[in-house]
Amino acid sequence: MSDARRDAAVTYGSYLRVDELLRLQEPRSPGPEHDEMLFIVIHQVYELWFKQLLHELDRVTQLLAARDTHRTQHTLKRILTILKVMVAQLDILETMTPLEFLSFRARLEAASGFQSDQFRQLEFALGAKSDRAIARFAEGTRARVALEKRYREPTLWDAFLHYLAREGYAIPSAALTRDVTTAAEPSTDVQQVLVTVYRTDAKNAELCERLVDLDEGVQEWRYRHVKMVERTIGTRTGTGGSSGAEYLKSTVGRPLFPDLWEIRAHL
Ligand code: HEM
Repeated sequence: MSDARRDAAVTYGSYLRVDELLRLQEPRSPGPEHDEMLFIVIHQVYELWFKQLLHELDRVTQLLAARDTHRTQHTLKRILTILKVMVAQLDILETMTPLEFLSFRARLEAASGFQSDQFRQLEFALGAKSDRAIARFAEGTRARVALEKRYREPTLWDAFLHYLAREGYAIPSAALTRDVTTAAEPSTDVQQVLVTVYRTDAKNAELCERLVDLDEGVQEWRYRHVKMVERTIGTRTGTGGSSGAEYLKSTVGRPLFPDLWEIRAHL
Protein backbone atom coordinates (compact mmCIF):
# COMPACT_ATOMS: atom_id res chain seq x y z
CA MET A 1 0.00 0.00 0.00
CA SER A 2 1.36 3.46 -0.88
CA ASP A 3 2.17 5.94 1.93
CA ALA A 4 -0.46 8.36 0.59
CA ARG A 5 -3.16 5.66 0.81
CA ARG A 6 -2.05 4.64 4.29
CA ASP A 7 -2.07 8.20 5.60
CA ALA A 8 -5.48 9.25 4.19
CA ALA A 9 -8.49 8.77 6.46
CA VAL A 10 -10.30 5.55 5.64
CA THR A 11 -13.58 6.00 3.83
CA TYR A 12 -16.16 3.55 2.49
CA GLY A 13 -14.74 4.05 -1.00
CA SER A 14 -11.09 3.71 -0.07
CA TYR A 15 -11.58 0.66 2.14
CA LEU A 16 -13.63 -1.23 -0.45
CA ARG A 17 -11.67 0.09 -3.44
CA VAL A 18 -14.96 1.14 -5.04
CA ASP A 19 -13.37 3.20 -7.84
CA GLU A 20 -11.27 0.23 -8.98
CA LEU A 21 -14.20 -2.16 -8.55
CA LEU A 22 -16.49 -0.08 -10.76
CA ARG A 23 -13.87 0.07 -13.50
CA LEU A 24 -13.77 -3.72 -13.81
CA GLN A 25 -16.91 -4.19 -15.91
CA GLU A 26 -15.97 -3.83 -19.56
CA PRO A 27 -18.60 -5.01 -22.06
CA ARG A 28 -17.11 -6.14 -25.38
CA SER A 29 -20.19 -5.72 -27.56
CA PRO A 30 -20.65 -2.51 -29.53
CA GLY A 31 -23.42 -0.37 -28.16
CA PRO A 32 -22.85 -2.13 -25.76
CA GLU A 33 -25.68 -4.67 -25.70
CA HIS A 34 -27.77 -3.95 -22.60
CA ASP A 35 -27.60 -7.48 -21.06
CA GLU A 36 -23.84 -7.88 -21.28
CA MET A 37 -23.46 -5.79 -18.11
CA LEU A 38 -25.60 -8.24 -16.14
CA PHE A 39 -23.62 -11.16 -17.54
CA ILE A 40 -20.32 -9.62 -16.44
CA VAL A 41 -21.54 -8.47 -13.01
CA ILE A 42 -23.08 -11.82 -12.13
CA HIS A 43 -19.95 -13.74 -13.07
CA GLN A 44 -17.79 -11.34 -11.07
CA VAL A 45 -20.11 -11.73 -8.08
CA TYR A 46 -19.79 -15.52 -8.42
CA GLU A 47 -16.01 -15.28 -8.45
CA LEU A 48 -16.18 -13.27 -5.21
CA TRP A 49 -18.44 -15.89 -3.63
CA PHE A 50 -16.06 -18.61 -4.81
CA LYS A 51 -13.25 -16.71 -3.08
CA GLN A 52 -15.25 -16.46 0.13
CA LEU A 53 -16.22 -20.14 0.02
CA LEU A 54 -12.58 -21.16 -0.34
CA HIS A 55 -11.71 -18.88 2.58
CA GLU A 56 -14.41 -20.51 4.73
CA LEU A 57 -13.45 -24.04 3.66
CA ASP A 58 -9.87 -23.39 4.74
CA ARG A 59 -11.29 -22.31 8.08
CA VAL A 60 -13.34 -25.50 8.40
CA THR A 61 -10.21 -27.57 7.78
CA GLN A 62 -8.37 -25.72 10.56
CA LEU A 63 -11.31 -26.05 12.95
CA LEU A 64 -11.61 -29.79 12.28
CA ALA A 65 -7.88 -30.18 12.94
CA ALA A 66 -8.42 -28.38 16.28
CA ARG A 67 -11.44 -30.61 17.03
CA ASP A 68 -13.57 -27.50 17.41
CA THR A 69 -16.92 -29.09 16.55
CA HIS A 70 -19.06 -26.12 17.49
CA ARG A 71 -17.27 -23.63 15.29
CA THR A 72 -17.00 -26.17 12.47
CA GLN A 73 -20.82 -26.40 12.52
CA HIS A 74 -21.06 -22.63 12.58
CA THR A 75 -18.71 -22.20 9.61
CA LEU A 76 -20.41 -24.95 7.60
CA LYS A 77 -23.71 -23.16 8.17
CA ARG A 78 -22.20 -19.99 6.70
CA ILE A 79 -20.89 -21.95 3.70
CA LEU A 80 -24.34 -23.43 3.12
CA THR A 81 -25.97 -20.02 3.35
CA ILE A 82 -23.60 -18.63 0.73
CA LEU A 83 -24.31 -21.62 -1.49
CA LYS A 84 -28.06 -21.01 -1.23
CA VAL A 85 -27.55 -17.39 -2.30
CA MET A 86 -25.38 -18.60 -5.20
CA VAL A 87 -28.12 -20.95 -6.39
CA ALA A 88 -30.78 -18.26 -5.99
CA GLN A 89 -28.71 -15.79 -8.04
CA LEU A 90 -29.23 -17.93 -11.13
CA ASP A 91 -32.82 -16.61 -11.12
CA ILE A 92 -31.45 -13.21 -12.08
CA LEU A 93 -29.59 -14.50 -15.12
CA GLU A 94 -32.65 -16.48 -16.16
CA THR A 95 -34.41 -13.18 -16.82
CA MET A 96 -32.07 -12.92 -19.84
CA THR A 97 -33.77 -14.39 -22.92
CA PRO A 98 -31.94 -16.52 -25.51
CA LEU A 99 -32.00 -13.61 -27.98
CA GLU A 100 -30.61 -11.18 -25.44
CA PHE A 101 -27.73 -13.58 -24.75
CA LEU A 102 -27.11 -14.23 -28.45
CA SER A 103 -26.80 -10.46 -28.97
CA PHE A 104 -23.32 -10.58 -27.38
CA ARG A 105 -22.44 -14.30 -27.07
CA ALA A 106 -20.01 -14.29 -30.01
CA ARG A 107 -17.96 -11.66 -28.14
CA LEU A 108 -17.13 -14.23 -25.49
CA GLU A 109 -15.08 -16.16 -28.08
CA ALA A 110 -13.74 -19.26 -26.24
CA ALA A 111 -14.27 -17.78 -22.76
CA SER A 112 -16.39 -19.98 -20.45
CA GLY A 113 -17.07 -20.77 -16.80
CA PHE A 114 -15.16 -23.91 -17.70
CA GLN A 115 -12.03 -21.78 -17.21
CA SER A 116 -12.89 -20.61 -13.69
CA ASP A 117 -9.90 -21.72 -11.63
CA GLN A 118 -11.69 -20.86 -8.40
CA PHE A 119 -14.55 -23.21 -9.32
CA ARG A 120 -11.96 -25.95 -9.94
CA GLN A 121 -10.28 -25.06 -6.64
CA LEU A 122 -13.64 -25.55 -4.93
CA GLU A 123 -14.08 -28.90 -6.64
CA PHE A 124 -10.58 -29.92 -5.51
CA ALA A 125 -11.18 -28.77 -1.92
CA LEU A 126 -14.43 -30.75 -1.89
CA GLY A 127 -12.75 -33.86 -3.27
CA ALA A 128 -13.27 -33.79 -7.04
CA LYS A 129 -9.60 -33.78 -8.11
CA SER A 130 -8.47 -33.87 -11.74
CA ASP A 131 -4.97 -33.28 -13.11
CA ARG A 132 -6.51 -32.54 -16.53
CA ALA A 133 -8.20 -29.48 -15.02
CA ILE A 134 -4.79 -28.14 -13.94
CA ALA A 135 -3.25 -28.55 -17.39
CA ARG A 136 -5.77 -26.07 -18.84
CA PHE A 137 -4.02 -23.20 -17.02
CA ALA A 138 -0.66 -21.83 -18.15
CA GLU A 139 2.28 -22.63 -15.89
CA GLY A 140 3.29 -19.92 -13.44
CA THR A 141 -0.05 -18.06 -13.57
CA ARG A 142 -1.90 -17.22 -10.36
CA ALA A 143 -4.63 -19.69 -11.35
CA ARG A 144 -2.22 -22.57 -12.02
CA VAL A 145 -0.22 -22.01 -8.81
CA ALA A 146 -3.39 -21.85 -6.70
CA LEU A 147 -4.82 -24.94 -8.36
CA GLU A 148 -1.61 -26.96 -7.94
CA LYS A 149 -1.58 -26.07 -4.24
CA ARG A 150 -5.21 -27.22 -3.79
CA TYR A 151 -4.46 -30.38 -5.74
CA ARG A 152 -1.76 -31.42 -3.27
CA GLU A 153 -3.81 -30.53 -0.19
CA PRO A 154 -6.11 -32.96 1.65
CA THR A 155 -9.79 -32.52 0.83
CA LEU A 156 -12.59 -31.60 3.23
CA TRP A 157 -13.48 -35.30 3.43
CA ASP A 158 -9.89 -36.15 4.41
CA ALA A 159 -10.01 -33.46 7.11
CA PHE A 160 -13.30 -34.89 8.37
CA LEU A 161 -12.02 -38.48 8.54
CA HIS A 162 -8.92 -37.33 10.46
CA TYR A 163 -11.23 -35.44 12.80
CA LEU A 164 -13.33 -38.58 13.39
CA ALA A 165 -10.14 -40.55 14.09
CA ARG A 166 -9.18 -37.94 16.69
CA GLU A 167 -12.69 -38.27 18.14
CA GLY A 168 -11.83 -41.92 18.79
CA TYR A 169 -13.35 -43.67 15.77
CA ALA A 170 -11.52 -46.54 14.08
CA ILE A 171 -11.11 -44.96 10.67
CA PRO A 172 -9.16 -47.43 8.48
CA SER A 173 -5.54 -46.35 8.09
CA ALA A 174 -5.84 -46.68 4.28
CA ALA A 175 -8.37 -43.83 4.37
CA LEU A 176 -6.09 -41.68 6.56
CA THR A 177 -2.95 -42.19 4.47
CA ARG A 178 -4.49 -42.24 0.98
CA ASP A 179 -3.11 -40.29 -1.96
CA VAL A 180 -5.00 -37.00 -1.54
CA THR A 181 -4.49 -36.02 -5.20
CA THR A 182 -7.04 -38.66 -6.21
CA ALA A 183 -10.79 -38.86 -5.58
CA ALA A 184 -11.56 -40.78 -2.36
CA GLU A 185 -13.00 -44.22 -3.13
CA PRO A 186 -16.16 -45.27 -1.26
CA SER A 187 -15.18 -47.51 1.66
CA THR A 188 -17.44 -50.02 3.44
CA ASP A 189 -15.18 -49.77 6.54
CA VAL A 190 -15.67 -46.00 6.68
CA GLN A 191 -19.39 -46.50 6.11
CA GLN A 192 -19.59 -48.81 9.14
CA VAL A 193 -18.02 -46.09 11.28
CA LEU A 194 -20.47 -43.53 9.91
CA VAL A 195 -23.44 -45.76 10.76
CA THR A 196 -22.16 -45.91 14.36
CA VAL A 197 -21.79 -42.12 14.40
CA TYR A 198 -25.38 -41.67 13.23
CA ARG A 199 -26.74 -44.14 15.77
CA THR A 200 -24.76 -43.12 18.83
CA ASP A 201 -23.20 -39.68 18.47
CA ALA A 202 -25.67 -36.84 17.84
CA LYS A 203 -22.96 -34.15 17.79
CA ASN A 204 -20.97 -35.74 14.98
CA ALA A 205 -24.07 -37.01 13.17
CA GLU A 206 -25.03 -33.33 12.89
CA LEU A 207 -21.68 -32.60 11.24
CA CYS A 208 -22.32 -35.45 8.78
CA GLU A 209 -25.69 -33.91 7.95
CA ARG A 210 -24.09 -30.53 7.21
CA LEU A 211 -21.72 -32.29 4.78
CA VAL A 212 -24.71 -33.93 3.09
CA ASP A 213 -26.31 -30.46 2.86
CA LEU A 214 -23.12 -29.17 1.25
CA ASP A 215 -23.01 -32.06 -1.23
CA GLU A 216 -26.67 -31.56 -2.10
CA GLY A 217 -26.16 -27.79 -2.40
CA VAL A 218 -23.34 -28.18 -4.94
CA GLN A 219 -25.45 -30.63 -6.94
CA GLU A 220 -28.33 -28.17 -6.78
CA TRP A 221 -26.12 -25.46 -8.27
CA ARG A 222 -25.04 -27.82 -11.05
CA TYR A 223 -28.65 -28.80 -11.79
CA ARG A 224 -29.86 -25.20 -11.88
CA HIS A 225 -26.89 -24.16 -14.05
CA VAL A 226 -27.72 -26.90 -16.61
CA LYS A 227 -31.36 -25.85 -16.70
CA MET A 228 -30.33 -22.23 -17.22
CA VAL A 229 -27.98 -23.32 -20.00
CA GLU A 230 -30.72 -25.43 -21.64
CA ARG A 231 -33.23 -22.60 -21.64
CA THR A 232 -30.66 -20.08 -22.89
CA ILE A 233 -28.69 -21.97 -25.58
CA GLY A 234 -30.58 -25.28 -25.91
CA THR A 235 -28.39 -27.95 -27.51
CA ARG A 236 -25.75 -25.52 -28.81
CA THR A 237 -22.15 -26.39 -27.91
CA GLY A 238 -20.43 -24.37 -25.16
CA THR A 239 -18.06 -21.46 -25.78
CA GLY A 240 -15.52 -23.47 -23.76
CA GLY A 241 -15.60 -26.23 -26.38
CA SER A 242 -17.71 -28.86 -24.62
CA SER A 243 -20.96 -30.39 -25.89
CA GLY A 244 -22.73 -27.84 -23.64
CA ALA A 245 -25.80 -28.98 -21.65
CA GLU A 246 -25.00 -32.58 -22.56
CA TYR A 247 -21.58 -32.33 -20.82
CA LEU A 248 -23.00 -30.41 -17.86
CA LYS A 249 -25.70 -33.03 -17.28
CA SER A 250 -22.99 -35.65 -16.86
CA THR A 251 -21.64 -33.70 -13.85
CA VAL A 252 -24.98 -33.54 -12.01
CA GLY A 253 -25.71 -36.21 -9.41
CA ARG A 254 -22.09 -37.21 -8.82
CA PRO A 255 -21.83 -37.11 -5.01
CA LEU A 256 -18.87 -35.45 -3.32
CA PHE A 257 -19.10 -37.66 -0.24
CA PRO A 258 -20.40 -41.02 -1.55
CA ASP A 259 -20.04 -42.80 1.80
CA LEU A 260 -22.53 -40.43 3.40
CA TRP A 261 -25.11 -41.28 0.72
CA GLU A 262 -24.41 -45.00 0.77
CA ILE A 263 -25.17 -45.38 4.48
CA ARG A 264 -28.72 -43.97 4.15
CA ALA A 265 -29.95 -47.44 3.22
CA HIS A 266 -28.32 -48.94 6.31
CA LEU A 267 -29.50 -46.60 9.05
C1 HEM B 1 -26.31 -17.51 -19.91
C2 HEM B 1 -25.61 -17.99 -18.92
C3 HEM B 1 -24.70 -19.16 -19.01
C4 HEM B 1 -24.53 -20.06 -20.01
C5 HEM B 1 -25.27 -20.14 -21.36
C6 HEM B 1 -23.49 -20.98 -19.60
C7 HEM B 1 -23.05 -22.03 -20.36
C8 HEM B 1 -22.10 -22.95 -19.95
C9 HEM B 1 -21.67 -24.08 -20.74
C10 HEM B 1 -22.22 -24.46 -22.10
C11 HEM B 1 -20.72 -24.73 -20.03
C12 HEM B 1 -19.96 -25.98 -20.45
C13 HEM B 1 -18.53 -25.65 -20.80
C14 HEM B 1 -18.40 -24.99 -22.16
O1 HEM B 1 -18.28 -25.69 -23.15
O2 HEM B 1 -18.43 -23.75 -22.19
C15 HEM B 1 -20.55 -24.02 -18.78
C16 HEM B 1 -19.69 -24.36 -17.78
C17 HEM B 1 -19.56 -23.68 -16.60
N1 HEM B 1 -20.20 -22.52 -16.24
FE1 HEM B 1 -21.68 -21.62 -17.25
N2 HEM B 1 -23.08 -20.64 -18.35
C18 HEM B 1 -23.78 -19.53 -17.95
C19 HEM B 1 -23.64 -18.86 -16.75
C20 HEM B 1 -22.75 -19.20 -15.76
C21 HEM B 1 -22.60 -18.49 -14.52
C22 HEM B 1 -23.38 -17.25 -14.06
C23 HEM B 1 -21.61 -19.10 -13.84
C24 HEM B 1 -21.09 -18.66 -12.51
C25 HEM B 1 -19.82 -18.61 -12.26
C26 HEM B 1 -21.15 -20.19 -14.64
C27 HEM B 1 -20.14 -21.07 -14.30
C28 HEM B 1 -19.77 -22.18 -15.00
C29 HEM B 1 -18.81 -23.14 -14.53
C30 HEM B 1 -18.07 -23.11 -13.20
C31 HEM B 1 -18.69 -24.10 -15.53
C32 HEM B 1 -17.83 -25.37 -15.48
C33 HEM B 1 -18.72 -26.51 -14.94
C34 HEM B 1 -18.07 -27.87 -14.95
O3 HEM B 1 -17.10 -28.11 -15.69
O4 HEM B 1 -18.56 -28.74 -14.21
N3 HEM B 1 -21.87 -20.24 -15.78
N4 HEM B 1 -21.41 -22.94 -18.77
